[in-house]
Amino acid sequence: MSEMTAQTPYEILGDEGIRALADAFYEAMDDLPQAAGVRAMHAANLDDIKRKLSAYLTGWMGGPPVYLAMKGTVCLTDPHAPYAIGPKERDQWLLCMDEALERIGASDELKAMLKEPMFRVADTVRNQDSSEPKPRDPNIIAVG
Ligand code: HEM
Repeated sequence: MSEMTAQTPYEILGDEGIRALADAFYEAMDDLPQAAGVRAMHAANLDDIKRKLSAYLTGWMGGPPVYLAMKGTVCLTDPHAPYAIGPKERDQWLLCMDEALERIGASDELKAMLKEPMFRVADTVRNQDSSEPKPRDPNIIAVG
């Protein structure tokens, strides 16, 4: 009887595959007109952010925690706090990820494995309910 061991995305892609995914992700962001909104939030040169995303995804996908070792945290809230990220930006980010998985020739199995978790992490980074900037002083009086 053959042993069935579930592979992590890290085991499937390896370090090289994850680097290729992060590169393809920001290349897709550069190329896709539908992602122009999120592309405009980023620096002209994407080399640094490619390395950071690759480091982040390595740990997130079940590999060694290289981003944690660099930063001392895997919290994504603080680095994204300067940017208004609503559902539109989240969906543009996810579109780039879908395109990147396509470009590196990811299997249907890997795509299916990542679909929900990628949505959840992107929705966690979302810090606005809409794509409008939050009012600075909503002047809400809490009741109850
Ligand atoms: C939901 C939509 C998202 C948008 C619009 C967005 C946008 C950005 C922007 C503008 C930066 C700063 C780039 C720079 O320093 O030049 C950034 C940094 C970063 N993002 Fe995102 N992001 C999103 C979601 C995510 C997700 C889901 C992940 C991880 C799975 C992620 C991982 C990172 C990392 C690792 C950094 C670098 C943080 C650091 O300085 O250490 N982002 N993001």
